[in-house]
Formats: sequence, C-alpha cells, structure tokens
Amino acid sequence: IKHLRSAADLDAATATLILDTAGEMAALAGREVKKLPTLRGRTVVNLFYEDSTRTRISFEAAAKRLSADVINFSAKGSSVSKGESLKDTALTLQAMGADAVVIRHSASGAPHRLAAWVDGSVINAGDGTHEHPTQALLDAYTMRSRLGRLDGLQVAIVGDILHSRVARSNVLLLTTLGAHVTLVGPPTLIPVDISAALSPKAKVSYDLDSVLPDMDVVMMLRVQTERMQDSYFPSAREYSRRYGLDLARMRKLPEHAIVMHPGPMNRGMEITPEVADSSRSTIVEQVANGVSARMAVLYLLLGGKA
Ligand code: CP
Repeated sequence: IKHLRSAADLDAATATLILDTAGEMAALAGREVKKLPTLRGRTVVNLFYEDSTRTRISFEAAAKRLSADVINFSAKGSSVSKGESLKDTALTLQAMGADAVVIRHSASGAPHRLAAWVDGSVINAGDGTHEHPTQALLDAYTMRSRLGRLDGLQVAIVGDILHSRVARSNVLLLTTLGAHVTLVGPPTLIPVDISAALSPKAKVSYDLDSVLPDMDVVMMLRVQTERMQDSYFPSAREYSRRYGLDLARMRKLPEHAIVMHPGPMNRGMEITPEVADSSRSTIVEQVANGVSARMAVLYLLLGGKA
C-alpha cells in the first residue's frame, strides 16, 4: 500500500506484516541497535494541525531511528495562521520533496484530501472524529505481545465512542484480525449506526459491569469534554459511577485481562489512578510500542514492501 489513511486500508495479511515488522523493530531496539540506515536520504514531514504529545513525538522518533530527515510542521506559528489552505501547504511540502507526510487534522477526511495533492505517502495521525490507524496498530501490537494472539480475543472499548477516532480504527483493525469487539458506553455516546457503519461484527452494550467478566482486554477512552453538549453528557459523577474503571470493577475482569488507554487520560473520570498505574495497565507500554509500530509503517510504506 502507498498510504495509511484508514485502518480499512489494511487487509489481514498487510496488518499482520506491520505487526511482525514492529516486533522486529522492538527486538532490534532491545539489542541496543538504536538506528537503522533504511530511510537515509528520505524526508518525512510531520504536519500537525492539532495538539499531540504521544503521536507527534513517536513519529519523530520512529523516522529518526530509520535515519530519515524529519521536518516538524505545526500549524501554530506557520502561515496557516495567515489563512493558508491545506492544499497550498501541501503543495509547499511537495515542492520540498516530502517522501511521506504524517498528518493530524481536526477535519475528518483531511488525509484523503492531502493524498490527492502530494506524490508521497500520506499517513493519518488522527483526523477529527474519524480515524487514528497507527493508534489501532500499536494497540493491536500491545494486545498480541501481552496475550499472544488477536484471533478470538474479546475486547471491550468503553466510553465516548461517539467522538473517538481511536475506537473507529480499533473496530476496523481488530475485527479484520479476528478479535471480537464490544462497544460499551451510555446510549448518548454510542452512534446508533456504528456497528453497521464500521463492522457488523462489533457488538454494543450499555452495561459495563455485565461485560467485564468475559473480556480479555478493556480499552478505556478519554471522555472528550471539549466536544460535548449537555445532551450527550449530563454529569461527570454519574458517568464515572456507571462507566469509570475503578479497582472494584477491574476485579470483575478475568485474571489475565489487560487494561488499556490511548492517552491522554482524565484520571478520576474514565479511569482511576489506581487502575491506570496497576500491573494490569499497559498504558506506558502502549506509548513505547507506538515507536516500533510507526517505524514499521514508515519502513513498509517507504520501502515499498507492504
Ligand atoms: N493517543 C494519542 O493520539 O495521543 P496524542 O494526542 O498525545 O498524540
């Protein structure tokens, strides 16, 4: 494949190749091989129109570990503040010879538009409420390395499904790889047509307590209060009482089950600090795996092997 705009761009074989390659990248890092010459002479542009900590830093680290030249572009402080359009920004990057553009944008579909304007590969680093495919890859990698498989795994994705690009990409990727996904949250935060729109295999539940005993993975989502209207989210206390993961709820999970969160977290809202910092939590591991997963994506897209 040339671009990674959506988790739907990945069939099972390609997704598995990316996860296997991420494993090789992690193994090399574990053997103190800090830098590979693979992308020497190639240019990766990180084009971030929205704030990011984990994704921006890990794409930069991934590109540098592959010896690519990295240009970091942030909308703040650029000519975007003078009204320059995405298309004109893209043509500027094209003129500078970008081999890959990693884009985060508040508009759903921005990576698709960008791919029509640049010759290089486009990688979606989060577009609006639409998708975040490399987050889904690092999440799948984390599940596979902790639990040994993806096929047949029971995964609950919990919380603000309505606004979550992480949920959308995870549903697409995990069901492609044979996992069973249950979306859990209040009815106001689960779009009615989500299963039909994403994958008919995804189930929906409004009752977290009844779902937990059957799960191998519970993935808590950030409540995106900045995108909320009162009708979606009447009370933080009520939300935490019904859908927050605290120690009592975590004990309902099977012994082997893991707790995930893509970050950033609202500690005390969707997850308590005791759960986030517990031995079942993979939150820090997910961040570390993000570098290996993004190295694999850059390597395979720019190396032409995926
Ligand atoms: N998980 C995630 O996308 O985090 P950032 O917004 O910090 O990149």
